[in-house]
Amino acid sequence: MKMLVTGGAGFIGANFVHYTVKNRPEHDVTVIDKLTYAGNEANLAPVANKITFVKGDICDVELMDKLVSETDIVVHFAAESHNDNSLRDPWPFVNTNIVGTYTILEAVRKHGKRLHHISTDEVFGDLELDDPNRFTETTPYNPSSPYSSTKAGSDMLVRAWIRSFGIKATISNCSNNYGPYQHIEKFIPRQITNILSDIKPKLYGTGEQVRDWIHVDDHNEAVHLIIDKAPMGETYIIGADNDHVNNKQVIEMICEAMGKPKDWYEHVNDRPGHDLRYAMDSGKLRRELGWQPKYTDNNGMMEALKTTAQWYDEHRDWWQADKQAVEANYAKQGQ
Ligand code: NAD
Ligand code: DAU
Repeated sequence: MKMLVTGGAGFIGANFVHYTVKNRPEHDVTVIDKLTYAGNEANLAPVANKITFVKGDICDVELMDKLVSETDIVVHFAAESHNDNSLRDPWPFVNTNIVGTYTILEAVRKHGKRLHHISTDEVFGDLELDDPNRFTETTPYNPSSPYSSTKAGSDMLVRAWIRSFGIKATISNCSNNYGPYQHIEKFIPRQITNILSDIKPKLYGTGEQVRDWIHVDDHNEAVHLIIDKAPMGETYIIGADNDHVNNKQVIEMICEAMGKPKDWYEHVNDRPGHDLRYAMDSGKLRRELGWQPKYTDNNGMMEALKTTAQWYDEHRDWWQADKQAVEANYAKQGQ
């Protein structure tokens, strides 16, 4: 099967391509990626001779028409993905996440191809800290930030194209990922690379916010299951039930995993409009498709954090050149 992976030089996309080449060699993979600040062709170096790489923009109508016409399935990861950036400059988020997804949908409709659209739990907004409920596939959309509202917009477009034009598409909404190749602007790699640079980790506000952490390989296994088995038109929540640790506890776990005292971090300015808590009910995916995550409790997460920290330690060339600029950008916000 010919598979077009958008955003395959970014964090989750690159891990997806590695996973696919290793475990699903029957797929003939082409990656299309604009190589924004978040994309890095080096992320694909280990599989470079097994895939085709195209540098390009998903908003480019002619290019997407051609690439989609040549594939069997599009797996759509490409996005502007960082909330803090969307607060500084929302336009790239509107353009890539909404116009880019629209461009793909029109090509998919014209050529009758299959699409899997990758989305986020953030489309649902947030839960109160003491709310026992979790997001499900039927939770109403209530996004908070420019990033999450453009992802919500892209999901709505996919749903409309399924209903109005009958395109063959599925959607997944996943919680916070971590693992190798994640840009160092994001919470976990920022703190790991802070410690490796002898800088104290930075906790926004009180750190009481909760994210439902999932290892990127658990996410990508779920995506493959959906591609293989899901009925067309369906949406699946992906989450590994790790919503029992707040940001403060995650920083403490990272300090512990890297041999620092648990309180070796500092509080910095909070994120405006900061979502409080995400929690995902992935029962449908588990029941209907038999998905089972590997890294589920604090022990599993601790092990995965150690492996992730080791990856950043062993791949300093991959992140060190960006570190100063990323931290200088945060410092402007008092973060
Ligand atoms: P990322 O920022 O690491 O990677 C995004 C990739 O998309 C980069 O390689 C970038 O160059 C590329 N890209 C951006 N704009 C493009 C454009 N106009 N044309 C072509 N390529 C473009 O993001 P990520 O964390 O890997 O997220 C991937 C997808 O997963 C996104 O759709 C995101 O919303 C979703 N998601 C992320 C998480 C998470 O925790 N990171 C959780 C749930 C869902
Ligand atoms: O929930 C899924 C989403 O997870 C994805 O859709 C996004 O693409 C992805 O970036 C992520 O969004 P978050 O905003 O939750 O992730 P981030 O890594 O930016 O922050 C995680 C939490 O940590 C959040 O509550 C803010 C906090 N934080 C973040 C940074 C960068 C800190 O306390 N300190 C920090 O330095």
